[in-house]
Amino acid sequence: MNPNSHEQSNELLTFITCGSVDDGKSTLLGRLLHDSQLVFDDQIDSANNESRKFGTQGSDLDLALLIDGLQAEREQGITIDVAYRYFSTAKRKFIAADTPGHEQYTRNMVTGASQAELAIILVDATKGVLTQTRRHSFIVSLLGIENIVLAVNKMDLAKYDNKVFKEIVAAYEDFSADLGFKTVTAIPTSALKGDNVVNTSNQMDWYTGPTLLTALEGASLIQETQDSKVRFPVQWVNRPSTDFRGYSGTLASGKISLGDTLFASAAQEPLKITKILGPSGSLESASAGQALTLCVDKEVDISRGEILFTDTTPPHKADQFAAHLVWMDTQAMLPERTYRIHLGHQETNAQITDLRYRKDINSLKNLASKKLELNEVGYCNFALERELLFDAYQDNHDTGAFILVDPYSNATVGAGMIDFPLRRASNLTWQEVHVDKETRAKQKEQNPCVLWFTGLSGAGKSTIADALEQELHRLGCHTYLLDGDNVRHGLNKDLGFTDQDRVENIRRVAEVSKLMVDAGLIVLVSFISPFRAERDMARHLFPEQEFLEVFVDAPLEVCETRDPKGLYKKARAGSLKNFTGIDSAYEPPIEPELHLNAGEKTVDELVEEVLGLLRTRNFV
Ligand code: ADX
Repeated sequence: MNPNSHEQSNELLTFITCGSVDDGKSTLLGRLLHDSQLVFDDQIDSANNESRKFGTQGSDLDLALLIDGLQAEREQGITIDVAYRYFSTAKRKFIAADTPGHEQYTRNMVTGASQAELAIILVDATKGVLTQTRRHSFIVSLLGIENIVLAVNKMDLAKYDNKVFKEIVAAYEDFSADLGFKTVTAIPTSALKGDNVVNTSNQMDWYTGPTLLTALEGASLIQETQDSKVRFPVQWVNRPSTDFRGYSGTLASGKISLGDTLFASAAQEPLKITKILGPSGSLESASAGQALTLCVDKEVDISRGEILFTDTTPPHKADQFAAHLVWMDTQAMLPERTYRIHLGHQETNAQITDLRYRKDINSLKNLASKKLELNEVGYCNFALERELLFDAYQDNHDTGAFILVDPYSNATVGAGMIDFPLRRASNLTWQEVHVDKETRAKQKEQNPCVLWFTGLSGAGKSTIADALEQELHRLGCHTYLLDGDNVRHGLNKDLGFTDQDRVENIRRVAEVSKLMVDAGLIVLVSFISPFRAERDMARHLFPEQEFLEVFVDAPLEVCETRDPKGLYKKARAGSLKNFTGIDSAYEPPIEPELHLNAGEKTVDELVEEVLGLLRTRNFV
């Protein structure tokens, strides 16, 4: 759970600081704490020691070291994780999320920003508004933060010049006009020298506005209303014995009391709250941010992922939605590729079915694009493997935000904010037919399956598949061979060899092979199919025993020597781009049903191996 509970009082302000590397973010926060005397003495002592080791300010105290928490970032002089700071003044309590400015760490910025009510956007007075400033501002606006403090820092290096400040503020206001911010308070600061952070500067008589601290103390809290509906996402069902059943989780929004009526998508009838248990015992009522176990008056089948709610507007339940997506991985986001979505305590497979646009961060224009690269932001339609419960992000930041995870590396690759649920254009249902797969297979007296041949160009996939099909034909089997080159002459003639086209190529051929298996055939698929993700996607279209992955493994040197179509030669000469094995990746299978040594064995031997597999699995 985020360290910022939703329990907001007028005294508590959560804010984030965003800026580029070297804008002086950590120094600014350090200055804020130091000058308002919020740092304990022992922290200053240790910062003094650290300053001598890593500081960038000679033997003076480096205020950034009061903030930067991690060894690695101290050594590199950059901030690489979200550091939460809790501090208070006579007027207000604060939670500061210090987020990284380094381009590749946008991820942490999103994490820090999702619960914040105000963002301090730092600009280096000597550099002005940068792409990174614009990116952060746009993400901040997507996350629903409406109060901005534009800290034009390092004014000492700009000779405390009013003109410099004015130009930067004008450029920023021009850029951010359409981002929906309610307030943009621009302050000229020097975190290093202490100007206008806590103490009013005596170097800039031309500036009469607030200091940073006064601005923070005076900022209005505007998010109170948006999360007022009750949402209790169930994290787990607590059932220590047959006579106790409680639903545990953290109240994401709203307030509940004993006797309140709850609804759940899995329960037909309303439920009454009979117990509210907190960490230290029974409670009469509870509010957002509290970790609770709730008991209700009926036995119902509620499981992890359910969202309990009290009023008449339930969360959405849908398997498609439109959302803003911030991409955070070095491997591009490709539409149709399968990712794991984590939405609260729910998890399933998801594909981006349509990348509707990519935002150009500098012009804020919507651009057509086929993929999202690291740190890019887009607007997408999503299709999920099953229905999930959620709200629009603007209605609820907890139940409307999600992350995407790479199923292989488990890395977080994207973060999203849901806009609205999508329903299928026409209310499609599955049409039952009477002659089905089983009937067709019986008539052909065989068990249908798909043999999925994968490997480099020139490894021998098509040759082996062709020889195998002849053999199967002799044995009386009903077969069909789907070959990459051939399918690309017709069904897939609109596709080339970029990563995203290969994803679509395999998606289509996987669906076609599924139809052919449904027709009762033994289907041979011979495609390079270079990516694990798409081969796994194909695999999951079939019952386990019907998908047989055959890795036609010949070393690149062997394929290149064979070069049956002269393509390796062209690729090496640079006249053929994106060639597998040369300048486009091939990801070998990890656990194929069959691994053929196609670099050394003869075609007959290899065909015999595949036949052996088919025999042991009862397909011939
Ligand atoms: S896949 O990667 O999308 O699965 P597919 O099997 O359909 O590829 O097509 C591969 C065939 O296209 C190769 O056997 C080769 O004849 C031809 N080809 C043309 N350009 C390329 C390329 N850039 N990379 C790989 N194959 C190519």
